[in-house]
Amino acid sequence: AGSYEHILTSTPKPGVGLITLNRPKALNALCSPLFVELNEALSKYDNDKSIGAIIITGSEKAFAAGADIKEMAPLSFSAAYSDNFIAPWSHLANTIRTPVIAAVSGYALGGGCELAMMCDILYCTETATFGQPEIKLGTIPGAGGSQRLTRAVGKSKAMELILTGKNFSGKEAAEWGVAAKAVAGGHEELLEQAFKTAETIASYSRVAVVAGKEVVNKSQELSLKEGVEYERRLFHALFGSKDQKIGMTAFAEKKKAEWSHE
Ligand code: CAA
Repeated sequence: AGSYEHILTSTPKPGVGLITLNRPKALNALCSPLFVELNEALSKYDNDKSIGAIIITGSEKAFAAGADIKEMAPLSFSAAYSDNFIAPWSHLANTIRTPVIAAVSGYALGGGCELAMMCDILYCTETATFGQPEIKLGTIPGAGGSQRLTRAVGKSKAMELILTGKNFSGKEAAEWGVAAKAVAGGHEELLEQAFKTAETIASYSRVAVVAGKEVVNKSQELSLKEGVEYERRLFHALFGSKDQKIGMTAFAEKKKAEWSHE
């Protein structure tokens, strides 16, 4: 773990990297320097062989209240376009192969909601507050919200949420499929659940886990026929891994698999 200004990193449980967004005075608004640090921390964990899952969380009050409005307010089209503003946010979804769990308490608005939806698994408290309020600022979601929210909840509800900017609760997020689970209780109970899942994932063969993440993500890009073929090819490829032999031999011998991660 490094020392950062806007985030905290730690490994309180073996195999699990925790990243805590930590700009409390701005409700964890996602300024560009924060994303530089987040991307660096994600890559460090991703390259660390001892880490099998990553959790991103915020505080009890805010996961993140959006992209930094004060940073964006004066931005010109030409600066945003030529610097490809917000493009570095795609690092998580495009590059990180280790599963990432978002643990959301409090506000997850705008870019905060988008960051949470970029993660592989989203857990939240029932009382978390999600929303894409960009329309109220005279703009639209810019970090994948219109695409990921629509895939999760369908066109009509996504259109309603994005064009009215109205918030939705963690309980609704889970009912609608934005979140995998809404936890009753506060931030501590939420983190407990996130760690439980992260430790489970980290206990499996890294090769199989990375392949599992890859094929689920392919379902978002490919037709059903192409996706099923892609899955089958990767399934075939895993017969070349040591861990497939280790896992199936252990099952036959009624023993616990000791993964080689190869
Ligand atoms: N950017 C910059 N600063 C922010 C911020 C943001 N997104 N959200 C909150 N802050 C700052 C506030 O300006 C305030 O700072 P000061 O003390 O210096 O005034 C501090 O955080 C605390 O915020 P509030 O006093 O507003 O706290 P509250 O409890 O009264 O309200 C809130 C909380 C409802 C979340 C409110 O802060 C809010 O509406 N925030 C903005 C939410 C938003 O519109 N997000 C979308 C951003 S656009 C975007 O994300 C684009 C994209 O798609 C990439």
